[in-house]
Amino acid sequence: MADILGNMRRTHSCGELGIADIGKEVVLMGWVQRRRDHGGVIFVDFRDREGMTQIVFSPEENPPVHEKAHVIRSEYVLGVRGVIRKRPEGMINPKMKTGMIEVVITELKILNAAKTPPFLIEDNIEVSESIRLTHRHIDLRRPQLARNIITRHKTSVAVRNYLNQKGFLDIETPFLTKSTPEGARDYLVPSRVNEGCFFALPQSPQLFKQLLMVAGYDRYYQIVRCFRDEDLRADRQPEFTQIDLEMSFIGEEDIMAIAEGMIQTIFKAVLEKEVTIPFKRLTYDVAMDKYGLDKPDLRFGLELTDISDIVQNTGFKVFADVVKKGGMVKALNAKGCADFSRKDIDDFTAFVAIYKAKGLAWIKVKDNEWQSPIAKFFSEEEKKQMAEKINMEKDDLIFFVADRSKVVNEALGNLRNLLAEKKNLINKDEFNLLWVTHFPLFEYDDTEKRYTSVHHPFTAPFEEDYENLSANPLAVRSRAYDLVLNGSEIGGGSIRIHDREIQERIFTVLNMDKEEAEKKFGFLLSALESGAPPHGGMAFGFDRLVMILCGQSSIRDVIAFPKTQRAGCLLTDAPSKASPEQLQELSLKVITQ
Ligand code: AMO
Ligand code: AMP
Repeated sequence: MADILGNMRRTHSCGELGIADIGKEVVLMGWVQRRRDHGGVIFVDFRDREGMTQIVFSPEENPPVHEKAHVIRSEYVLGVRGVIRKRPEGMINPKMKTGMIEVVITELKILNAAKTPPFLIEDNIEVSESIRLTHRHIDLRRPQLARNIITRHKTSVAVRNYLNQKGFLDIETPFLTKSTPEGARDYLVPSRVNEGCFFALPQSPQLFKQLLMVAGYDRYYQIVRCFRDEDLRADRQPEFTQIDLEMSFIGEEDIMAIAEGMIQTIFKAVLEKEVTIPFKRLTYDVAMDKYGLDKPDLRFGLELTDISDIVQNTGFKVFADVVKKGGMVKALNAKGCADFSRKDIDDFTAFVAIYKAKGLAWIKVKDNEWQSPIAKFFSEEEKKQMAEKINMEKDDLIFFVADRSKVVNEALGNLRNLLAEKKNLINKDEFNLLWVTHFPLFEYDDTEKRYTSVHHPFTAPFEEDYENLSANPLAVRSRAYDLVLNGSEIGGGSIRIHDREIQERIFTVLNMDKEEAEKKFGFLLSALESGAPPHGGMAFGFDRLVMILCGQSSIRDVIAFPKTQRAGCLLTDAPSKASPEQLQELSLKVITQ
């Protein structure tokens, strides 16, 4: 059978033609965005992943080709040959990159027909995400998605160039492996040949990259898929990609410098933007105190103020009681926001309730008085001290939450972000990069009644804090650092433990006895006694970084085939049931609960 393309081969993409190409003969291949008939002349917006070009079928200039063009419809696949000419005055479209020119077609091959698409292939269309994901191959034709996917590619090229040039080796690590604890549930894969045994898909390559350091492969990197079964949000996927790296014979500063250089290179290569290095730094304690979150957005102010000392004996019992029980009271001064209505405040109260706040007290500063349901409880002295410490001025609206520090910080930290969004305080062109350092090594899990790692169990504590490991684990600080971009955690890492004894002590604090530690991490413990160099590294959330570079608000928009919030793929209908034969082969039985 004759090849449908014959000897027709593409000479250009649909996004690159302009004034300089006038008079050239070109061959384009692509999809019909739209066909318009204008008194005999047929205009087609012709599209490929690079952009759109107007092609013209004219009854005067080429009657047979014009005749053939009548059947074409949206999303038909065409190969066309033609000559570029300047568009007549009045038909120039300055909004289109190729808007100065059009291609007058002399040869048309209809390569394939297409059914009417389920939605218009345009940006900003009103169509549910589930329909878009079900027809992802069509959705991906939208210009915004094409731009995102191309930006993703450019970012990965910039990363590879930078790290290759800095002497990093790209080394793959296994997907069928043992559990790597990064705080999520594992995805398990049954082994057919080892009855009743399971692999875990890696939550990150953490342990393998440490083993590579022990093996002597200093400076490793990988752009690698990670798998985590956790509650999904706009910036979380069950499988996502990390830029993962590890170095030996280094300290925090060396890794931060590599990371800063890499981010700088990416911004230059992808957005042609300069970012200043070194990035700002905050300790975890300062971040929590001023902003309530360990990933604060510093593009706006709205700092929090701890007023526990002022209100510890106040007549407003809610506040006084909380402080007496060891909790705290913090204020968030929404400057100039006194115009928020009661209804707005009710909405904010419902919002902070998500973070378990039991209420949201407030004061509006009017001309010479405070408008507030709680003002009457405060003494003149307390009012004076509050006004000064919180910097209360006319037209300010101050919010208060009293509770355990975790609740207060989460509630007000998130309210701070919401207020900035509502009041348009965020400069969307700004890229604010920030390191958060000196995290606690452990936190206490109230439900499980045990200590857990804030990062992962292989993070080194500061040496001067070793003595607190058994006495006061919550006071131990870690040599970890997170990278925050516009309030989103885009990376994190640490200096690792390279000493078996310290690693065992950490496992003990985590309530893991020797036997369990040996069973789960025996290979690591033995590696640590086989000549492990001091080492450390970090991993960047590649999807999150690309999402921000593309100005998108969901990582699903920068992943070609993402999963839904319910961790499924609507396109392929995965996950799906296994057949009885498959289950038998794997020695598995499904118990429905
Ligand atoms: P961490 O768990 O902080 O560290 O992950 C590193 C970065 O990966 C991104 N990320 C995610 N992105 C999308 N969906 C998810 N479900 C998801 N989970 C995490 C975040 C995060 O900052 N092994 C350590 C790194 C190290 O210590 O070197 C690790 O995985 O942007
Ligand atoms: P109540 O006396 O419970 O009606 O509360 C008076 C005001 O204090 C209301 O605006 C509540 O939203 C607020 N409030 C109650 N509990 C808290 C709390 N734990 N923190 C901050 N405000 C609270």
